[in-house]
Amino acid sequence: MNIFVTQLIPQSGLEILRRAYPGFRINSEERVLGRGELLECVKGADGLLALLTDRIDAEVLDAAGAQLKIVANMAVGYDNVDLEAATRRGIMVTNTPGVLTDATADHAWALLFSIARRVPESERYLRAGKFKGWGPLLFLGGAVTGRTLGIVGAGRIGSAVAMKSRGFNMRVLYTARSPKPRLEAETGARRVELEELLRESDFVSLHVPLAPDTVHLIHAGSLRLMKPTAYLINTGRGPLVDEAALADGLRSGVIAGAALDVFEREPAVHAELLKLENVVLTPHTASATIESRSKMSTMAAENLIAGLAGQRPPNLLNP
Ligand code: DGY
Repeated sequence: MNIFVTQLIPQSGLEILRRAYPGFRINSEERVLGRGELLECVKGADGLLALLTDRIDAEVLDAAGAQLKIVANMAVGYDNVDLEAATRRGIMVTNTPGVLTDATADHAWALLFSIARRVPESERYLRAGKFKGWGPLLFLGGAVTGRTLGIVGAGRIGSAVAMKSRGFNMRVLYTARSPKPRLEAETGARRVELEELLRESDFVSLHVPLAPDTVHLIHAGSLRLMKPTAYLINTGRGPLVDEAALADGLRSGVIAGAALDVFEREPAVHAELLKLENVVLTPHTASATIESRSKMSTMAAENLIAGLAGQRPPNLLNP
């Protein structure tokens, strides 16, 4: 079997691959392959282990060749893969759900506290030698305990974020295609329309997948529905938010702040966002715990091997 791994991933998955297919090929650098390199490297592959930074579209699938059987994406999100094009060619696509739920939800909370309590901003101030002593007006932020948390998309990760709010005695609102009885029983959460969630929440956290109908789900109009004291958290996908509108809204005080782990044109970040203090920015690291990345790597390798062995991979997206 000819297997290609598009970038260096945690050893756990590589060891599994090495045992099954000692001759597998890998881009062993910690960098995304350029388009030309990717098209060249996939040639002749029976299986691809890809990352969310690789655009796996019809061109790549065709460059690989008719023998390509499976694309194992090492991510829960798979908007980087043209699922329809793969399905039309009879190519299996898999993802890595579940193993990064808590890591990502924990990071959403890290971002929530960072922006509400102005942690990175006040740390920058202190390191710059500006701290001259306790001050009654120094770095006042927003309260978290007892406030309203709005979860946009109460799937696995959104629900985990909501569950973790119990320690902070928060009122929880959520949007979802269907009601979530367990979430409601355990947190008292209430399912509402997006508009009501935006109007009522002190913290809005985004967890819907990226799809044509969720691009710019948060735009200038939605920001205007939010309270001027509210915060937006995004650990989903960058294009869920119109970054230019967000930068305008943050600059003019339409909302109090935002904390983003994902960006519209990664790795680029909107230049206006970089100038603002009321935004916290992390480099798409929400799932970046040693444990969770290692499990993602294992899961992607196991999906790949199962698919190539003629079995149904555990996390098949296009059965
Ligand atoms: C995913 O898996 O989709 C995350 O964005 C990266 O871990």
